[in-house]
Amino acid sequence: MKKSIFIISTIIIFLSLLTPFLSQRCNKNDEKVLFQIKKSLGNPYLLASWQKTLDCCEWYNIECDPNTGRIIALTIFSGNISGQIPRQVGDLPYLQTLVFRKLTNLTGEIPSEITKLTHLTMLRLSWTNLSGPVPSFLSQLTNLDFLDLAFNDLTGTIPPELATLTKLNALHLDRNKLTGAIPESFGTFTGTVPDLYLSHNQLTGDVPKSLGYLNFTTIDFSRNQLTGDISMFFGANKTIQIADFSRNNFLFNLSEVVFPASLTSLDLNHNKIYGSLPGTLTGLSLQYLNVSYNRLCGKIPQGGDLQKFSNTEYFHNRCLCGSPLPACS
Ligand SMILES: *[C@@H]1O[C@H](CO)[C@@H](O)[C@H](O)[C@H]1NC(C)=O
Ligand SMILES: *[C@@H]1O[C@H](CO)[C@@H](O)[C@H](O)[C@H]1NC(C)=O
Ligand SMILES: *[C@@H]1O[C@H](CO)[C@@H](O)[C@H](O)[C@H]1NC(C)=O
Ligand SMILES: *[C@@H]1O[C@H](CO)[C@@H](O)[C@H](O)[C@H]1NC(C)=O
Ligand SMILES: *[C@@H]1O[C@H](CO)[C@@H](O)[C@H](O)[C@H]1NC(C)=O
Ligand SMILES: *[C@@H]1O[C@H](CO)[C@@H](O)[C@H](O)[C@H]1NC(C)=O
Ligand SMILES: *[C@@H]1O[C@H](CO)[C@@H](O)[C@H](O)[C@H]1NC(C)=O
Repeated sequence: MKKSIFIISTIIIFLSLLTPFLSQRCNKNDEKVLFQIKKSLGNPYLLASWQKTLDCCEWYNIECDPNTGRIIALTIFSGNISGQIPRQVGDLPYLQTLVFRKLTNLTGEIPSEITKLTHLTMLRLSWTNLSGPVPSFLSQLTNLDFLDLAFNDLTGTIPPELATLTKLNALHLDRNKLTGAIPESFGTFTGTVPDLYLSHNQLTGDVPKSLGYLNFTTIDFSRNQLTGDISMFFGANKTIQIADFSRNNFLFNLSEVVFPASLTSLDLNHNKIYGSLPGTLTGLSLQYLNVSYNRLCGKIPQGGDLQKFSNTEYFHNRCLCGSPLPACS
């Protein structure tokens, strides 16, 4: 009798210890959706841990909310995955992070079912072979703070609606085949002002003056066919730190531009920028500077960090001279 009481109480203690784990079990609807996703991707080896015998909160590539057992992150990274992004990803309603990255055989368009994921804060579909447009429907994901669609085969223009994303900290659309102009609306981000990475596309036209209304921190517009003047990103009261405008067709007079104290990296190489290097450059703490292959003239201001750089940061200009280039005549 005593012995059976001991056994029963042991079982009760054991079960009560297990309860927190039992309550964390994966949500059955989410598990069902994950099996559909696995099937839709052709049961790839990368998802071998997705087995009925294992609680789905224990699977690789998945993260569960410990309190609710709902899937909050799906990260499929660097594996032999072929096919399209399964439409069923839209049926994981508590997803905050969705990543498909470094999957060269992932093709097709970004599915509109993604708009059902209203809790999404990070969407990263990069280094894949996704094609089609950067969809304007992504602006419905109002909680996004990180949007990375870099290194794909995306075509078409940049949707102006992305400027309505008030929590966006970074927008990576670099290394695609995007065309057309940078949207005027990108000067109207309310809330956070995102870092903009638009390099290695085929963007054309003048950068809208409206972008000068905001305080950007990082801008990378390099390797496009952009034209006009980009001096609105600068000025004594601006907060820009990293600015890469290299390899475009920018054409403006640099002489009167005031660079803010926040600037640490400035790349203007391969443009049509003329005038002279402003003396205020000597007051900055520059880690990187490259103004080569432009149409600059006059003496390189002497002092600050400017002589720390080598001649390759200054060469191939119209008549720039003085250390580290040869002396002015
Ligand atoms: C991509 O698909 C091709 C053809 O099926 C295959 O040969 C290749 O190994 C795959 N590569 C990766 C990284 O999945
Ligand atoms: C990727 O998977 C395909 C089809 O299953 C296979 O033919 C190919 O060898 C795999 N490639 C690699 C790099 O594992
Ligand atoms: C994926 O992209 C690479 C590089 O852009 C290309 O060589 C390859 O053929 C593409 N693969 C598929 C399956 O589209
Ligand atoms: C930009 O930053 C400066 C310095 O912090 C500040 O004075 C100015 O009001 C800011 N401008 C905008 C549009 O936020
Ligand atoms: C820049 O800031 C100074 C003082 O910090 C202020 O007097 C000036 O009006 C500001 N200029 C602009 C364009 O905001
Ligand atoms: C550039 O601007 C400076 C200062 O306003 C002026 O002296 C110079 O002539 C201009 N350069 C050219 C090539 O227009
Ligand atoms: C500056 O840019 C030019 C042109 O692209 C390049 O040749 C040079 O190596 C660059 N210098 C540095 C230090 O990056």
